[in-house]
Amino acid sequence: MLGAMRSGATLVSVLLFLGRAAGGDAWLKPADTDTDTEDCFCHLTGVLDDCFCDIESIDDFNSYKIFPKLKKLQERDYFRYYKVNMKRPCPFWLNDGHCSISDCHVEPCSESEIPIGMKAANYNKEVNAEELQDCEEANKLGAVNSSLSNQTKEAFIDWARYDDAQDHFCELDDELSPDAEYVDLLLNPERYTGYRGWSAWRVWNSIYEENCFKPRSVYRPLNPLTPGRGDDDGESFYNWLEGLCLEKRVFYRLISGLHASINLHLCANYLLDDVWGGTKWGPNVEEFRFRFHPAETKGEGPRRLKNLYFLYLIQLRALSKVAIYFERSIVDLYTGNTTEDTITKKQLLEVLNETKLFPMHFDEKSMFAGDKKEAKTLKEEFRLHFKNISRIMDCVGCDKCRVWGKLQTQGLGTALKILFSEREIKNLPEHSPSAGFQLTRQEVVALLNAFNRLSTSIHELQIFKMLLKAKR
Ligand SMILES: Cc1cc2nc3c(=O)[nH]c(=O)nc-3n(C[C@H](O)[C@H](O)[C@H](O)COP(=O)(O)OP(=O)(O)OC[C@H]3O[C@@H](n4cnc5c(N)ncnc54)[C@H](O)[C@@H]3O)c2cc1C
Ligand SMILES: *[C@@H]1O[C@H](CO)[C@@H](O)[C@H](O)[C@H]1NC(C)=O
Ligand SMILES: *[C@@H]1O[C@H](CO)[C@@H](O)[C@H](O)[C@H]1NC(C)=O
Ligand SMILES: *[C@@H]1O[C@H](CO)[C@@H](O)[C@H](O)[C@H]1NC(C)=O
Ligand SMILES: *[C@@H]1O[C@H](CO)[C@@H](O)[C@H](O)[C@H]1NC(C)=O
Ligand SMILES: *[C@@H]1O[C@H](CO)[C@@H](O)[C@H](O)[C@H]1NC(C)=O
Repeated sequence: MLGAMRSGATLVSVLLFLGRAAGGDAWLKPADTDTDTEDCFCHLTGVLDDCFCDIESIDDFNSYKIFPKLKKLQERDYFRYYKVNMKRPCPFWLNDGHCSISDCHVEPCSESEIPIGMKAANYNKEVNAEELQDCEEANKLGAVNSSLSNQTKEAFIDWARYDDAQDHFCELDDELSPDAEYVDLLLNPERYTGYRGWSAWRVWNSIYEENCFKPRSVYRPLNPLTPGRGDDDGESFYNWLEGLCLEKRVFYRLISGLHASINLHLCANYLLDDVWGGTKWGPNVEEFRFRFHPAETKGEGPRRLKNLYFLYLIQLRALSKVAIYFERSIVDLYTGNTTEDTITKKQLLEVLNETKLFPMHFDEKSMFAGDKKEAKTLKEEFRLHFKNISRIMDCVGCDKCRVWGKLQTQGLGTALKILFSEREIKNLPEHSPSAGFQLTRQEVVALLNAFNRLSTSIHELQIFKMLLKAKR
């Protein structure tokens, strides 16, 4: 059904249906037909592919209903601390020869090693001095501040005792490992770290290259990272994508959306030159243009931003579906302080209530709707690929990026788990906490923080929209 929906005629009727026909068809045209090159948002309007939803409605909904509430929620003790094992080695390219990842936050690399298209716009020719400085800066900016108060540390022991008694299953090896440590997310905001180059490229590339359900029989370059593409290969890549069944396309778009979100955060929280010599963080419009403007990205920028909206919708849908799980009084958000726990739960339910009211949810029934046996295989494939991506995160050579990378993949994994467990969630027993569908503390923390990241991205996009307008 959705396949058919992609035809032009149906799309027009959808546009009319939503009453947003005016100006809403710009996104249908190829990037280069638009003369207004200043505007990164010219194609970011109207109906989102694969679902009955338009971007303007999401913007409004996010700004007024979701973002302010999530901002408050993330500050509560329950959501503030995320347990992560930073010591797990990269399982995929161990015998790399370079320095070990734990004491090298960023691998130096010469300019020639950097694939074209990845070089920073202002890349300096004096590679060595510049590079060393970059490396030093990236080491500093990418380090995790792991300070926790003694009181907090004591509380964690109590949390663990409580969680163990909850009889949860299917925990991740990450949080069970003795090496896993709590990180204070408020102390370590996701922002520009200077992590880039070969190491970052390799991680992104593995995620796309190895995990995008690449049909072995197809020989042409299958993902946008493949170097040496001609100018119009971007289009053919998307044509290829459209030929895939929905599930596989969904997977690609989720990853691309996550990638866009991470890169957007670093643009919005960039290390700016401060006339007073201190550190100042804020939006960098040039960096944003460089990463998302159609002219700088062969027209891909707006598509990547659309994938971000798509990812947002998927997670929004998951939250609305899981609300019923949290609404039961037996589910608490334990920190040991009853006052705190009551406030946190109320704030969480407020967020979930809003997600339920969103009128244009993604219809996940269109996923895995094909042949039953094939659907089951695909679902499992999805799960395995996702697990793999979380392992690839152990190869991220910047600690802070790794924390947020892991958190966001786990959040997305949890969202998918929810979407695939609809029946189990519906059949939850009211009074038995350990029976049926379960979420661990770790999953809950990741789910809400990951969604908060996306909500923040969409909020940041509104800021860039204004800044770009002001510049003209
Ligand atoms: C898991 C992870 C977390 C990171 N976290 C941070 C962080 O917190 N702070 C920070 O400063 N840096 C972070 N980075 C680094 C950052 O994402 C970039 O890799 C880096 O800034 C270099 O950017 P780039 O322009 O070379 O292209 P990259 O973002 O490295 O992308 C490589 C190529 O992928 C393609 N591409 C880019 N975006 C998309 C997209 N949305 N969809 C599809 N294809 C795309 C383009 O062809 C691009 O040339 C992180 C990297 C990883 C792998
Ligand atoms: C970590 O954060 C604490 C609390 O804000 C601060 O006192 C400390 O200086 C920070 N440490 C580092 C290494 O930045
Ligand atoms: C925190 O605990 C450590 C070791 O248990 C102790 O050495 C330190 O003095 C404590 N700090 C405070 C502020 O209580
Ligand atoms: C997992 O990722 C690695 C590294 O990219 C790759 O070699 C491997 O084939 C992947 N496995 C699966 C099941 O996707
Ligand atoms: C418990 O939480 C409330 C609300 O956050 C806070 O005001 C209070 O100080 C906390 N009590 C203790 C003992 O930490
Ligand atoms: C959420 O909505 C339900 C009704 O839909 C209402 O009973 C409940 O009080 C709301 N909860 C919060 C925390 O707003």
